[in-house]
Amino acid sequence: MSMRHSVASRPIEASRAAFAEDVAFYLTESPRQLPSRYLYDDLGSSLFEAICRLPWYRVAKIEQALLRAHAASIFGRLPAISTVVELGPGSGEKLLTLMAAAPRPDVTVHLVDVSPAALDQAAIGLATLPSLTLVAHESTYLEGLRAALGRPGAAGGGALVVFLGSNIGNFDPPAVDDFLQGVRDALGAGGALLLGTDLVKPEADLLLAYDDPLGVTAAFNLNLLVRVNRELGGDFDVRQFEHRAIWNARESRVEMHLVSRRPQRVQVKEPGIDITFDAGELIWTESSYKYRAEDLAPLLARAGFRLAGQWLEAGFALTLARAV
Ligand code: AVJ
Repeated sequence: MSMRHSVASRPIEASRAAFAEDVAFYLTESPRQLPSRYLYDDLGSSLFEAICRLPWYRVAKIEQALLRAHAASIFGRLPAISTVVELGPGSGEKLLTLMAAAPRPDVTVHLVDVSPAALDQAAIGLATLPSLTLVAHESTYLEGLRAALGRPGAAGGGALVVFLGSNIGNFDPPAVDDFLQGVRDALGAGGALLLGTDLVKPEADLLLAYDDPLGVTAAFNLNLLVRVNRELGGDFDVRQFEHRAIWNARESRVEMHLVSRRPQRVQVKEPGIDITFDAGELIWTESSYKYRAEDLAPLLARAGFRLAGQWLEAGFALTLARAV
């Protein structure tokens, strides 16, 4: 494996300043919010990996099974792939399963993630496929994708973008269209997208997945406050907040919130904010949109993709599309 260094890595100071700016903006919005991308510091990434091993969080396991069963058939539906870009690789396990079936061994794989910990983990996992060239991009999805693919359309039919784990669920409806359009434009005609999407299922199953009996998801959510305290000089009393997951049927999304257990004041030094929480007041930390399988082809079509294959299992969809 040849591992070039992060080509789009931001200096620590710049990313901390962006974090501070986001915290100042979103925490003083109504309702109060913190963007879910900040869940993935070192500890947060580890907690997410632990979530994927919980019996109640089935996305990762079902997707692995689908990839294992259909990877060869996915490559069989595409022209020769020379470049693969995975957005949000996490531990790299999913991509390893996919790439083990790649017909050409000498593929360049770009990993795009905001978390350096995730990039390191994924690179270690993929090292078992020595003929791959790995390039890591520490950046947001579209920024990293554009850096990976170069001029729009340059990679043409040889490029495959992989967006798994139902990461797409974090985008709200206007943002999901913009995002898919951005992927389509970066790929150019002929490029391919492999998308993993969690589907609408009974509310009890959804709530168990996002509020598990072991409290791992609660720790994952609360760690956001730990991170604000450590990186931005916040004084959140973490014990005075609790995790809550709700199914918002009207919007078709699971929401994670942090609930203030009592009236309290919180200061965060770096952006210089000072806020007062009422008892029961919420910080909205994540939305995980759930789709119906039949919604995916029209969603992709709006962004300029045509369906090239779809595999469904136990409330989860793996969808292959080509840019037209
Ligand atoms: C990694 C964003 C797909 O929304 O299901 C897991 C993150 N949040 N448990 C999801 C998550 C709570 C996960 N994604």
